[in-house]
Amino acid sequence: MERTLAILKPDCVRKNLIGKVISHIEEAGFKIVALKMLKLTVEQAKAFYSVHKEKPFYNDLVKFMNSGKVVVMVLEKDNAVNDFRELIGATDPKEAKEGTIRRLYADSKQENIVHGSDSVENAKIEISFFFSESELISNES
Ligand code: CDP
Ligand code: MG
Repeated sequence: MERTLAILKPDCVRKNLIGKVISHIEEAGFKIVALKMLKLTVEQAKAFYSVHKEKPFYNDLVKFMNSGKVVVMVLEKDNAVNDFRELIGATDPKEAKEGTIRRLYADSKQENIVHGSDSVENAKIEISFFFSESELISNES
């Protein structure tokens, strides 16, 4: 079964939307394989988003991701990576489709509630950034 990494970003936690967002995720058929709450250090935020290090928004993004606690989750489903990107919607909530999590709850392109891996390969890298093998035992076993 395919897996993806989700992060409920600091704005999601601050706005008391953890439960609502997780409800959307579960109702869309994802199984939660692993879940924890933590505060990313500046170093962790920089490393997690290192693909964007040359972008103009990188420093602000790092500050935002270090501005409060996040919830990180491993989600499992057929076609998890693409289905989760569909469920969250476009990066900019103004461009996100009606009914998507970002369209429903996000305030801006930066404070957009949730992260989702963009490929199966990156999902594997991102999952191992946060979780060890013993935390990743499938619910079905
Ligand atoms: O998260 P997603 O894959 O949709 O977008 P991204 O292009 O990989 O950018 C990562 C994150 O950087 C976004 O989710 C936003 O929080 C932030 N960002 C931003 O603040 N300003 C932009 N112009 C683009 C992205
Ligand atoms: Mg991305």
